[in-house]
Amino acid sequence: IHVDWDAVTAEKGGYEHFMLKEIHEQPRAYRDTMLGRIDHANHQAVLPELKLSNEQIKNIRNIQIVACGTAYNAGLIGRTVIEQFARIPVENDVASEYRYRSPIITPETLVIVVSQSGETADTLAALREAQANGAHVLAITNVVGSSIARDADDVLVTLAGPEIAVASTKAYTSQLIAFYLFGLHLAQVRGTMTKEEVAHVLAAMEALPEQVEAMLGQADTIKSYAEQIAKHKHLFFIGRGQDYAVVQEGSLKLKEISYIHSEAYAAGELKHGTLALIEDGVPVISLLTQEAVMEKTLSNIKEVKARGAEVLAISYEEHAAELLKSVDHVITIPKTLPILTAALSVVTLQLLAYYASLALGHDVDKPRNLAKSVTVE
Ligand code: G6P
Repeated sequence: IHVDWDAVTAEKGGYEHFMLKEIHEQPRAYRDTMLGRIDHANHQAVLPELKLSNEQIKNIRNIQIVACGTAYNAGLIGRTVIEQFARIPVENDVASEYRYRSPIITPETLVIVVSQSGETADTLAALREAQANGAHVLAITNVVGSSIARDADDVLVTLAGPEIAVASTKAYTSQLIAFYLFGLHLAQVRGTMTKEEVAHVLAAMEALPEQVEAMLGQADTIKSYAEQIAKHKHLFFIGRGQDYAVVQEGSLKLKEISYIHSEAYAAGELKHGTLALIEDGVPVISLLTQEAVMEKTLSNIKEVKARGAEVLAISYEEHAAELLKSVDHVITIPKTLPILTAALSVVTLQLLAYYASLALGHDVDKPRNLAKSVTVE
């Protein structure tokens, strides 16, 4: 008898790549990261592990979110969430830049470092810089015993489980869940949201895992679109508000594993320069989940269409027919609250990057020149 088996194949649990397996683990990762942190009886987010006292929370004057790579991109969403829920001003910094810009840190500054591995040298150095200047540092990490978890003043653990693929997926989305919970916690303590508003967000959060499951069941449309873009050397992503933050992650994912050059642009900023690069056939992927600014993004889409771009719109089913009057392709995603859309829309972009890499025959799980954890500055 010949048994075709090895430890790595077994670990992949029937999936061709770790990345695909980890994309599929997201519903579970969302549930685990929420588990025990939602008080259903009182409609509250509860984070008993935090040392940060209510008194300290009330005194926070500003928040700085510091991280690298995908974790930085999760922090961009963290900013929109905290600013909306708790009305505290938030800045985002790339960890390798943070120290050298002499950031303004006071005892009322909360610094949040985000790191899947908890071992990224740049992020660890930023954490130390923040502490040396008197800030309270909260780490959002996936590894409990990591250097960052040990050194931080407070730790919020994501329960994504081990992530093997270099391109981060479930760690990013679990970081989003952590930000939602933390944002709600801040809002509860500072009184910036009513109980009903918090309950409304919590209910929408709890629906996310099933919505992701539904999306994963419809990956074929994404696969065939990915095979088309795989023929291109350059493409653009556009979005407004939270969609702009999400397309930055989508663009990074695509570059990391498919080596297709892409840029993520704030839809309204395109006309201030980058429009010069739009010519016949250039793919433009537009994310439209923020209904308040959808019309504006649509007019930016018309600008690129007029220059020959081939446009994909990712939006809700209810807008598909209308969008198809202006764009070439539409991929739909399930609907959630505007502030939570990243947790769904990014899944489409992860799959797009995955299938583009697959179509090009690249090593999906181990892209060239990249490491899962970077322990040099
Ligand atoms: C490396 C990885 C990226 C990751 C970044 C930050 O560059 O290739 O995928 O986003 O490190 O990693 P961390 O473990 O700190 O989240």
